[in-house]
Amino acid sequence: MNTIETERHYPIIAARRAALAFRFKAWMAAASGAALLLAGTSELLFAPSARAQSAPEPKPGQGAVAPMDPPTVNDRLPDQSHEMQDAAYHFENLWFAGDKQNWPLADYYLRKARAYLALAVRIKPVRQTGAGSKVDLTGIWSAVDHSMLAQIDTAIAHQDVAGFRTAYRQSIQGCEACHTACDRAYIRLQVPSAPSAAIINFDPPSLPSH
Ligand code: HEC
Repeated sequence: MNTIETERHYPIIAARRAALAFRFKAWMAAASGAALLLAGTSELLFAPSARAQSAPEPKPGQGAVAPMDPPTVNDRLPDQSHEMQDAAYHFENLWFAGDKQNWPLADYYLRKARAYLALAVRIKPVRQTGAGSKVDLTGIWSAVDHSMLAQIDTAIAHQDVAGFRTAYRQSIQGCEACHTACDRAYIRLQVPSAPSAAIINFDPPSLPSH
């Protein structure tokens, strides 16, 4: 069946498609509006798509959508706490991968945790404390990354489980040092008692999986 036949046989599909197209255009309107604000000079570039947005609204009964609040660029950025949670997710699983000497998996989780930490720092590189001073997160992050997290990396490369456990515990102190510097001393960390994901099998690849 081609598209037209499908729409004839299933009018609901046609209605949904119209609603989706409308939604997409509304989103494009918001997105190119934000881009205009950002780009300033590139009105010409965005003008054609701006004109295309004056598409007819769907008729009543044609799957009309509730009016949308146009998302702003800031609304669409994840916040620092969210990226910290992503980092913590990977950092927790890292403990179990290393503890079970599943080195390829440990390497994976360390890389992911580092990437999310770097992203979290990029989102808000400087924080103001309650006392009014500014904390340079980039500098602290770089120090933690190049010392403690680098030691975890070395332990993984040498398949050194004792070194891994030590470096992991020290890294936790590095994490907390930054929390303290950011007026977040109450975000204390510990060696996790359970992995973040129950579905992951942490056994090393050489062991038979269950
Ligand atoms: C360079 C500074 C810095 C480093 C290094 C750092 N954090 Fe954070 N972390 C923060 C800040 C700032 C917050 C609070 C963010 C906010 O208030 O929005 C935070 C919050 C958190 C939270 C709480 C998230 C939530 O809202 O539930 C967790 C969990 C966390 N960090 C884990 C870690 C772990 C694990 C490490 C180390 C592997 C780490 N952090 C290293 C700055 C840092």
